[in-house]
Amino acid sequence: MRKTFTVVRAKRIEELPPYLFAEIDRKKQEMLEKGVDIIDLGIGDPDLPTPSRIVEAMKRSIGDPSTHRYPSYRGMPEFRQAVAQWYRRRFGVDLDPTDEVLTLIGSKEGIAHVPLAFVDPHDVVLVPNPGYPVYRAATLFAGGVPHFLPLLKENAFLPDFSRIPPATCQKAILLFINYPNNPTGAVADSEFFKKVVEFASEHEIIVCHDAAYTEVAYEGYRPTSFLEVEGAKTLGVEFHSLSKTFNMTGWRVGFVVGNAEVIDALGKIKTNVDSGVFGAIQRAGIEALKSDEVEHRKVLDIYQRRRDLMVGALWDAGLELEKPKATFYLWIAVPKGYTSTEFTTLLLQEAGIVATPGNGFGEYGEGYVRLSLTIDEERLQEAAKRLKGLKFR
Ligand SMILES: Cc1ncc(COP(=O)(O)O)c(C=O)c1O
Repeated sequence: MRKTFTVVRAKRIEELPPYLFAEIDRKKQEMLEKGVDIIDLGIGDPDLPTPSRIVEAMKRSIGDPSTHRYPSYRGMPEFRQAVAQWYRRRFGVDLDPTDEVLTLIGSKEGIAHVPLAFVDPHDVVLVPNPGYPVYRAATLFAGGVPHFLPLLKENAFLPDFSRIPPATCQKAILLFINYPNNPTGAVADSEFFKKVVEFASEHEIIVCHDAAYTEVAYEGYRPTSFLEVEGAKTLGVEFHSLSKTFNMTGWRVGFVVGNAEVIDALGKIKTNVDSGVFGAIQRAGIEALKSDEVEHRKVLDIYQRRRDLMVGALWDAGLELEKPKATFYLWIAVPKGYTSTEFTTLLLQEAGIVATPGNGFGEYGEGYVRLSLTIDEERLQEAAKRLKGLKFR
């Protein structure tokens, strides 16, 4: 028998960029060991509990033996029906629950699998940059080539399709977009979505709109669905999540809606990878989708207070950022003379605040850091106090 054995990883793993939080985690750990009181604004994971009505629905369903068997691949008909009803109510979009809705194990799962259904080696996928890192990783896993679409402040963090070389447009199979946007907090209106439909239909590109944050918006602003735009369903799908809308990140349930052929192909991949979402969780999801506006408004009011508190403190410290209309992220330009990483280190060392360096979301995120508003107001007050002690003007 050989004494040594070399474990060689596949190229697709080696190609992945370094783990976004690794370096920051190391520094954070060092500070914690020194006894520093750390305020972690790095990760966007809602701190508020899942509403008890949803938890109770789960408790009721967990005792029902019919949920103990393999769930259906596409998702429970009742869950898909609830999604279609929610879409009608919320966006005025009609969906056939039979073939235009598919249950996902969180939207991340669907986003990660969709390139496998359409992308062959060397095909191009259009990926926003900065962006949710899964678009890029999923493209690489499928053997595709990401072509990055810079999201720049001067374009209101929307991609400029006219800057994509014609040869790249020809090779492009999929386009990812995400509004309200993580990490920039930018929003898009139906004019932008119309341009997306025009561009995608000209080049026959499948559109995957990641709509994880449509329900996290402030001052009465109601983000639109990509599917509200005429022609969108002929070429695209929308990924949705119960995670951010109902404080259910740990439950792992989401869905994708829209073009039936796209959904069918993604479903085919999934039948070979997973066996659906636990039935009791889908029943809780049905309860969640019945939530009324008033209940949801209370959660949004909490985020809005946090946003106003932190934006005010950051402005007072001389930092440049816009007050976001949606999402629970603040996208802050780093002061002159610092890189994203250097400024993240400074915030950690001088104020004990963990931020996410913008370059972790792609090269066009350089020059920014992201702060998340998913911790309680008392801790944010403390963060604000510490920030006020730092002056960048
Ligand atoms: C832009 C975006 N899309 C999708 C997801 C995935 O959400 P989930 O898998 O919990 O539905 C996240 C999570 O942070 C996100 O920020």
